[in-house]
Amino acid sequence: MALSFLTGMCLALGQHMLYRSLHHKAENNELTKVRVVLYGRALAYLSNCAFVGCVILCYRQRIWSTFRERALSVWTIDQVFLATEDPSIFLNWEAITKASLVTAIAVVIWLTPVATIIFSPGALTFGDYFESTLTNSHVPTLDFTQESNKDWRVPTYLPDGTAKRSMVYYNTTDIAGTSPGFFDYYDQPSADINRIALMNAYSLKDSSLNRENARLKSCGGNFNCTYTIDFLGPGYNCETLAKGSGDNAKLNEAGSPFDTSHLVPEGSEIYYAKVDYGEFERPQSGNLSAGGVPVGPVANDFGCFKTEPVLWIGVSINSTEKIADDSPFKTAWTHRFDPYIFRCEHHETKYTVKFNYSGPFYDADISYEFLAPIINTTLENVHDGDTFSADAIPHSGYIDPRVDVPLYRKTSAYHAMGQVLRTFLGGEMELTPPIPGPSYTRVDSKISNTRLVSNITGDPLPNLSELIPDFYAKMILSILSTPQMVIISEDFAEVNSTRYRSTFIYNPEKLWACYAPVILFVFIILLIGAWTIWQDGTTFSVGFSRVMVTTRNTTLDDISRGACLGNDPFPGELMHTKLKFGVLNEDNGAEYTFIEGTSGIGHCAFGVASELTAIRKGVPYAGLYPAKKVTATKKEKAN
Ligand SMILES: *[C@@H]1O[C@H](CO)[C@@H](O)[C@H](O)[C@H]1NC(C)=O
Ligand SMILES: *[C@@H]1O[C@H](CO)[C@@H](O)[C@H](O)[C@H]1NC(C)=O
Ligand SMILES: *[C@@H]1O[C@H](CO)[C@@H](O)[C@H](O)[C@H]1NC(C)=O
Ligand SMILES: *[C@@H]1O[C@H](CO)[C@@H](O)[C@H](O)[C@H]1NC(C)=O
Ligand SMILES: *[C@@H]1O[C@H](CO)[C@@H](O)[C@H](O)[C@H]1NC(C)=O
Repeated sequence: MALSFLTGMCLALGQHMLYRSLHHKAENNELTKVRVVLYGRALAYLSNCAFVGCVILCYRQRIWSTFRERALSVWTIDQVFLATEDPSIFLNWEAITKASLVTAIAVVIWLTPVATIIFSPGALTFGDYFESTLTNSHVPTLDFTQESNKDWRVPTYLPDGTAKRSMVYYNTTDIAGTSPGFFDYYDQPSADINRIALMNAYSLKDSSLNRENARLKSCGGNFNCTYTIDFLGPGYNCETLAKGSGDNAKLNEAGSPFDTSHLVPEGSEIYYAKVDYGEFERPQSGNLSAGGVPVGPVANDFGCFKTEPVLWIGVSINSTEKIADDSPFKTAWTHRFDPYIFRCEHHETKYTVKFNYSGPFYDADISYEFLAPIINTTLENVHDGDTFSADAIPHSGYIDPRVDVPLYRKTSAYHAMGQVLRTFLGGEMELTPPIPGPSYTRVDSKISNTRLVSNITGDPLPNLSELIPDFYAKMILSILSTPQMVIISEDFAEVNSTRYRSTFIYNPEKLWACYAPVILFVFIILLIGAWTIWQDGTTFSVGFSRVMVTTRNTTLDDISRGACLGNDPFPGELMHTKLKFGVLNEDNGAEYTFIEGTSGIGHCAFGVASELTAIRKGVPYAGLYPAKKVTATKKEKAN
């Protein structure tokens, strides 16, 4: 009994271990999948056999106590013997009331397979599992200092043989690069950076360009992932200096090239941008030969970056509110326009970009921290009598190609990036007033080609001062779409990869919810069985031999006369006779009492209650007489 119980426990544990080893394991081969599921079911079946085996042993032990305690009809005794195969015992009121414990044990025998075989395999299912892993891996990033090391005379290649591309085209003072004191100087943004900027600016999608396979590359497989990179690059730091008509004090102080009087309603512009004051001059000198090699001596500041042009942008926004009655502009305008002017300065910027690759699309959450102006000079107007000129001061802030070549090259890359942005921003948009009308916009700026204008009215978007840094950042991030750019680099980042996988999913609670009641009940029954054995002082079984030896009672012979074939149906009258198991009273069973030496050994058998006394523990009883003694008794009888 105990061994059976322990075996059942071990098999249940085996099922648990098998399921646990399958938990979150993907199995793509259908056949293997079916096979491992069947292994689990086999374990469930075997464990059921062990548990039920244990209960049946206890049951067999227990029924004899019941037969001794109560007189039951032959019908009920039949059913009690057959209860492990025939559930009709549960319909027998006599069995339920008079043999409640054995009936209850029979219930456990019948219900255990439901829990173990039918329900327990349900703890293992196959479904989508959301897997999330955190790894440190290589992700693409931008490194502008790579431009510092890039010499156009020395081509470098990607592993696949593609030549790396710079952001900048240079002119030089010596094409061979051998003469003493030679230097390269900035010419213009490279074709690649122009193409990238144009594609991004003209795109109506408010995100940076990226490679087709960016998700697979960055996430390291078919995952969704998020990660954060940071890098230094150029950025425009914008600051609003005037809000509303006539708010010009700050503007004048900052040396703005225009004020709100240019903008609607005072002026006629709804967009006005001056973005090229202080632009690097092209050509640098009037006397250049092929490759920009200067003919003759050049000035000291030849090729120097003197200043970065500041973006001065004025926008007038249609407030969509009716103009006030006392407004001086009522004669021309029907609605109030709010002009504002902002200034953006080119700074070296620390970008922190959180990439979120989910499905086919991706998100880049960009934040920036402006560090220092790229060129630390300011442009001052110098009045010299009638002539008016601008000069960047202090001269010590110039970036000189003769002095610090790596810094010059990096500044060139920043400058090239800014220059391509500025080509989209310069110019103006003029609005003719609705009175007398008709009102229409005359556009002279490439900004109308970009997503910085409203797709409904065609006017600049109202929050331009916030959009421009973002627009610029996305233009810079778009460089990631072109892996041959020299500034593409790799960085280590913590990548949080997630994916849905079809795997086995094991729910241990479900498994143990099936097994816990089984184990509990089987254990209780095991204790009852053990206690019964102790109480009886012997073990019992229900084989044919046991039936044979316990029915050697002449009373039974008498009442069953004529029904010796074991046929079905059995005579009804006999079925309702009540029998009990006990010690046959001596006077009744006289002819079976021993004559020589064995007298006093009681004989236990089924019989009617009146002829029986209770079996007592420790008393030796005779069951079937040893053969020779039976013969002896029979002879005696004959005599
Ligand atoms: C570089 O050289 C070319 C060819 O001489 C010339 O057209 C161009 O203006 C030069 N660039 C600069 C910035 O001087
Ligand atoms: C300003 O906005 C209002 C409301 O949308 C519109 O009716 C009006 O035509 C606009 N004014 C101009 C000059 O576009
Ligand atoms: C990434 O984007 C998806 C879908 O756009 C969103 O559900 C998810 O929360 C985002 N993850 C993070 C870490 O922002
Ligand atoms: C117009 O722009 C808005 C906001 O930028 C956007 O939500 C909308 O989809 C655009 N409409 C079209 C037709 O592109
Ligand atoms: C990535 O996320 C999208 C949207 O959230 C989802 O449809 C897709 O199945 C996910 N891909 C993987 C590999 O988990």
